[in-house]
Amino acid sequence: LADGPLTGRHILITSGPTHEPIDPVRYIANRSSGAQGTAIAAALAGMGARVTFVTGPAAVPPPQGVAVVRVETAAQMAQAVEAALPADAAVFAAAVADWHVVGAGASKLKKDGSGKPPALAFAENPDILKTVAHRPDRPRLVIGFAAETDDVVRNATDKRARKGCDWILANDVRPETGIMGGTDNALTLITAEGAEDWPRMTKDQAARRLAHRIAEALA
Ligand code: C5P
Repeated sequence: LADGPLTGRHILITSGPTHEPIDPVRYIANRSSGAQGTAIAAALAGMGARVTFVTGPAAVPPPQGVAVVRVETAAQMAQAVEAALPADAAVFAAAVADWHVVGAGASKLKKDGSGKPPALAFAENPDILKTVAHRPDRPRLVIGFAAETDDVVRNATDKRARKGCDWILANDVRPETGIMGGTDNALTLITAEGAEDWPRMTKDQAARRLAHRIAEALA
């Protein structure tokens, strides 16, 4: 472990998409690459933190120097997060599926010749961030992300209150921004004090900026 301002701190990070099975060979996914969460984990480890990195099936490899816990579904991610607590801070960068398919079983769905597609039934996944933020023994600093396409600051401010987290990092994921899956990010940090726009920068730079803010807040 590197020595630094976060030496002795345990920080939990969720990252990447989740995959929700439809049957043994098919799943529902999303476009999260895991790049921002991976960069945050690397930046925190570089500042001395002991990092537990709970990741869904991401497009980018996990960073060096962190404890990696690989999961597939939101339910598995929730379990892995529970098992990783307590932590001094937690950063929820994963793009967790809102729903899972009910009754995804051991048999592959087949066309039955009727021409009628199967009807999938969905059930809501646990909200990991919200659950952790409301625990009595929660991490001192709980940070969420808000991927928004409209009214970014207003929606993210509402989300901060609803989820009960300390900070929300809002990003504008309209396709024309190229942020989701790209190398850059343009974030707005929402805290109890208000909204702070960060300029567009690389995800690595944004990660280092966040890591410094976390170190300040935990100092
Ligand atoms: O509600 P929404 O998905 O927009 O909230 C995004 C934030 O909540 C992210 O920080 C994400 O990691 C977290 N989240 C979670 N568990 C869920 C859904 C979202 O931890 N089931």
